[in-house]
Formats: sequence, C-alpha cells, structure tokens
Amino acid sequence: MTAAPASTPTLSLLLREGTRPEHEAAESSGFVEQLMRGELDVAAYADLAAQQYAIYGALEAASAVVRHDAQGATLVFDELTRTPSIERDLAFLVGEDWAERITIHPATEAYAAHLRGLGDDVARYAAHAYTRYLGDLSGGQIIKRMMERHYGLSVDGLAFYTFDEIPKAKPFKDVYRERLDGLALDAEQTARTVAEAKLAFRLNSAVFADLGAVHVR
Ligand code: HEM
Repeated sequence: MTAAPASTPTLSLLLREGTRPEHEAAESSGFVEQLMRGELDVAAYADLAAQQYAIYGALEAASAVVRHDAQGATLVFDELTRTPSIERDLAFLVGEDWAERITIHPATEAYAAHLRGLGDDVARYAAHAYTRYLGDLSGGQIIKRMMERHYGLSVDGLAFYTFDEIPKAKPFKDVYRERLDGLALDAEQTARTVAEAKLAFRLNSAVFADLGAVHVR
C-alpha cells in the first residue's frame, strides 16, 4: 500500500506563510510604528495617502488590463477600487489643488514603475493585488481606527480604508482567497507568485523608509 500524496498547500496559504517575515518587517517600520502610536501628524498621514495615490493608480491600471483575461477577471472586484477614495482623501487632507502639491517619493516611483511593468501577467498581478487589497481589508482596518483615535480623522480623510460595498471583510477575504486558489498555476508559477508577493512587501517597506526619512524624528 502506498501512502496518499501529501496535499499541496493552496496559493493563499503559501502567500500568507511565505510573506510572514516581510509582513512583520513592514509592520514594524519606524514610520508605521510612530504613525500608529500617534507620534506623527496629519501631514504624515497625508503624505502616505499621496504615495497610495501613485501606487493604486498603477495597480488599478493593471487590474484594467488583467480583467480582459478569464482568470485575471476572477481577481478584479470593482468594490476594491481605491483610486477615487484616495482622491477624495487628498482633497480633504491637502486641498483641492492636491495634485500640484503632493510629492511622490523615489521608492513610490519605483514601486509604481514595477506595477506598470506587470503587463498582462496574471500571476504577478495576483501577488500585488493580494498584498495591497487583503492588507487594506486586514491591518488597514486597524490603521483606520488608529488614525481616528490619534489624529481626529473620521469619515473625511479615511475613505481609503472604508469599503462601502464590503460590509464584512472576513467573508470577502475568504472569497478572494478562493479566487487565488482557483488560479490554474503550476508549481513553478506558484513559487514565482509567492516570490513576487515577498517583493511587493519589500516595495511597500521601501516606501515606508522614504516616508520615515521625512517624518520620523
Ligand atoms: C500597521 C501596520 C499593519 C498591521 C497592524 C497589520 C495587521 C494585520 C493583521 C492583524 C492581519 C491578519 C488579519 C486576518 O487574520 O484576517 C493582517 C493581514 C494582512 N496584512 Fe497586514 N498589517 C499591517 C501592515 C501591512 C502592510 C504594510 C501590508 C502590505 C502592504 C500588509 C498586508 C497584509 C496582508 C496581505 C494580509 C493578509 C494575510 C493573509 O491572510 O493572507 N499589512 N495584517
């Protein structure tokens, strides 16, 4: 009698486990820690929103490309789209002329350029969309509460973290993980997707490092 083959771990599990060290590093960057403790100011939060504007502009342009592919379309949800929310936040935080006043830092430019280079590669897109959107629906909700508590923000300025069409994050994240697991990826493509997600976290950490250089004292 031969032993049954060990079941292959799902992509969503491999992504979660594989990016754990990078998640911890991102979470414990000086900028994030000080922002979360209320030691920075609204200008620092506005600067983060400006970086998100550049990042999501590029990510959501990639969403528009991959949704033309049958597999890619399973990962694109209109209710996740963040760009209009970030624009509203910036108008509130910086002013109506925000587009002329924000600064995009070098690490953000590099991250956005990387996203613009994804083309129609659904597996690499999955890694980046996972890293951002599942993060926004998880730790992002903790960040939202801390911004309310420490910086007097409420609805205005926090649209980015407010998913009006996703009343409960947990079931939505479960569906998203099912979609990730439904991608027809072979072992090599799966490994590349996890490696790309690790890179996505590092790109985010580099953005926090740039923000830290400006705002952390
Ligand atoms: C203040 C900083 C952060 C905190 C406190 C935080 C906290 C958390 C928590 C508690 C979870 C688990 C939620 C659950 O079980 O459903 C989570 C998941 C996640 N976070 Fe973060 N996070 C932070 C920053 C980040 C950053 C910067 C990223 C990436 C850009 C990120 C990406 C993710 C992802 C992708 C998940 C989903 C993991 C999975 O279930 O596969 N997080 N985060």
